[in-house]
Amino acid sequence: MGARGVSVVEMDEPTMPELKILPDTRSVAHVAADAIVSAAESAIAARGHFTIALSGGNTPENLYRLLATEQYRAQIDWANTYIFWGDERCVPPDHRDSSYRMAREALLDHVPLPAGNIFRMRGEDEPHSAAEAYEQGLRDFFTRREADVLVQPRFDLILLGMGDDGHTASLFPNTDAVDERSRWVIAHYVPRVEMWRISLTAPAINAARQIMFLVTGAGKADTLREVLTGPHRPRQLPAQLVQPVDGRLIWLVDQAAAARLPDGMQRAADA
Ligand code: 6PG
Repeated sequence: MGARGVSVVEMDEPTMPELKILPDTRSVAHVAADAIVSAAESAIAARGHFTIALSGGNTPENLYRLLATEQYRAQIDWANTYIFWGDERCVPPDHRDSSYRMAREALLDHVPLPAGNIFRMRGEDEPHSAAEAYEQGLRDFFTRREADVLVQPRFDLILLGMGDDGHTASLFPNTDAVDERSRWVIAHYVPRVEMWRISLTAPAINAARQIMFLVTGAGKADTLREVLTGPHRPRQLPAQLVQPVDGRLIWLVDQAAAARLPDGMQRAADA
């Protein structure tokens, strides 16, 4: 067991990601915050800026609040940090369901981040035009800073959650969004949640330098086992789409979410 009770499972199959099983949601947040500090330091040292795409949902809120504490706030160069989102609900930015609102209240209002460093998805606009505008914004940003010719935006870090149905970002099971391979950002109506969503697509996600899943709670245990060890069926389990082309994939999970993983994984994690 490493620091903070972190146990690392380096999967023997080359295609399996790095899995860290932590005691509880608090330790997941701390390990994630440390990883974000480290990713920011190395990105800014290497390229002068750090680009991170945030996730919505309940799991990351503790992480965002932790990053806003003095212990962590002082460790990040916010002036050279650029905030994006992996997905958004199509609601106004002050709506209770807005992922932007949650991140703003938990983190962005409490750190010295220039307003121009925040690139939110405009949930208040017509969804398809908002998705097109966001994609154009990514092209403008990453072309200026990363490369002359862009195939995909290459985020330094993308945070993702996973629903108990295996969705990630707003790529939901059995929706055409799962199959999108040319656009970077799409908008679609999601019957399961009865709302329009905007989301990065699999190619935009998989171009990242680092992707970090945060999955906690017993309610995710069966799905996590299916996603990590079951047959590859990304249309039913969109989290399986996440396979960075040239980047690092880390799963940060608590013991409750890991409870249904095969004993071998648990033993390897506890080794
Ligand atoms: C969202 C997220 C979504 C989330 C999962 C898990 O906007 O809801 O992008 O993909 O990460 O639904 O959500 P919880 O962390 O609340 O379980």
